[in-house]
Amino acid sequence: MSTPVQLAPTAPAPVAPEPAVAAPPRFVHVQTFGCQMNVNDTDRIHQVLAPYNYLPTDDPAKASLILLNTCSIRDRAEQKMLSQLGRLAPLKAFNDELILGVSGCVAQQEGAALLDKVPYLDLVFGPDHIATLPSLLDRIRGGERRLSETTFYKREDFTFVEAEPRGDTRVTEFVTIMKGCDKVCSYCIVPFTRGREVSKPPDMIRREVERLVASGAREVTLLGQNVNSYGKDLLGPDAGPRWGRQPTFPELLRDIDAVPGLERIRFTTSHPMDAIDGLIALFGELRTLCEYFHLPVQAGHDRILSEMRRFYTVDVYRETVRKLRERCPGLALSTDIIVGFPGETDDECEATLALLAEIRFNFIYAFKYSERPGTRAAKMGDTVPEDVKKARLNRVQALQEGITREIMESYVGQTVEVLFEGPSSRSAREADGTFQREPGATPPRVASVGLQMTGTTRTHAQVNVEVPAGEFWSRRWVGQLAQVAITEARANTLFGRLL
Ligand code: 5AD
Ligand code: SF4
Repeated sequence: MSTPVQLAPTAPAPVAPEPAVAAPPRFVHVQTFGCQMNVNDTDRIHQVLAPYNYLPTDDPAKASLILLNTCSIRDRAEQKMLSQLGRLAPLKAFNDELILGVSGCVAQQEGAALLDKVPYLDLVFGPDHIATLPSLLDRIRGGERRLSETTFYKREDFTFVEAEPRGDTRVTEFVTIMKGCDKVCSYCIVPFTRGREVSKPPDMIRREVERLVASGAREVTLLGQNVNSYGKDLLGPDAGPRWGRQPTFPELLRDIDAVPGLERIRFTTSHPMDAIDGLIALFGELRTLCEYFHLPVQAGHDRILSEMRRFYTVDVYRETVRKLRERCPGLALSTDIIVGFPGETDDECEATLALLAEIRFNFIYAFKYSERPGTRAAKMGDTVPEDVKKARLNRVQALQEGITREIMESYVGQTVEVLFEGPSSRSAREADGTFQREPGATPPRVASVGLQMTGTTRTHAQVNVEVPAGEFWSRRWVGQLAQVAITEARANTLFGRLL
């Protein structure tokens, strides 16, 4: 079993070695598991390594550094990582230079114990240590093999790596605005793997968004474990001279809303108990704030919510949803649900189903409870048998499928604003990559089927639209907003006609 880590922050501030401009090019291969936060961290890993002449590669056999950027929110993700490590291990026999490392949440959670468990592993480092990765690699190449770095920095010493666009900026991008989580949900490992909340200075966020927009993004999703507590740790001077005082999440949204060229803002995730009123007031007021809110409820029964240490009741949640819908009638809502929390009875699960039927979320993410080492809930035992969890999950998903279908069908006949992101996955497959090439490239022989662009509504529904073949290849639609009449709804996708 893995060792739970301490939350105590002890490490000194990171210092990276001088970039060795003349270093020979090396290849780095990173595999990313888990959430969008990890995807973002992988981008930062590539960014901090670039000045040291590390080039990204998709081919692990070519790499002299392979990293698995891991997730430990549920057990399955961790198992996947371990079997992937096993598959990569033989490469070490062919390449003496190869450094094999694990980063992310499993690394943070297990630390040196992971080195003991996996004998051919060279490096384990937590999410706080991305900025110092070059010096960790230096130490290993200098002979210090088998390194584990998982201390948390003191809040005042933690430095964010300011994000640079990757060079292939998408229409819709993600911007991390804070790290860590100060909540204490009893089932959750995140406070152990990501540490305390630290907010990124608002001016850094603004610069990141401006750069993304300048390189083609039109929509940004602001990312954090609990974004609506953004800013609480930033005192005036930390917030920067343009602010000079503690920024709140609504103030940050207002500031980002003013970025010229930005069309849409989303954010995720929010905790129902944090500063929700100021946020609700912004819907309908900020031009770019999309009519979409992801608000995890986790369960529909007060006893379970209390055991989960969520600090709200079902009624409090209901009231928040009522206020949101009153302020913003077209608001789309999504949520997270956990079934099979320790001690959850059939009746308590029924209460969750009843809440789903009552609130009618547009869509949900539902999970079977997964015991995480070191958490408070782990002490309660994993009491709901696997087959019961599975049956409950199936019921939750079946109920929600029906609700989602009805909501999707209610779009038919409506006109919606769509932000186009690129060819639909079917068109992209059939186009055989041609879309990625320069304008003017010869269109492939797929004229027999309609060519579709895909995009999303402000309410986060996916819409596919047929466009004339000639225009499809011109890239004209990527990043454009258009009014679309919805003609058909399928399970997860709407189809429409350009107006
Ligand atoms: N088991 C199952 N689901 C979990 N989540 C977090 N921890 C666990 C766990 N131990 C879910 C919660 C959270 C989402 C990101 O993952 O629903 O909101
Ligand atoms: Fe985990 Fe709760 Fe923090 Fe979300 S709010 S990351 S569920 S501890």
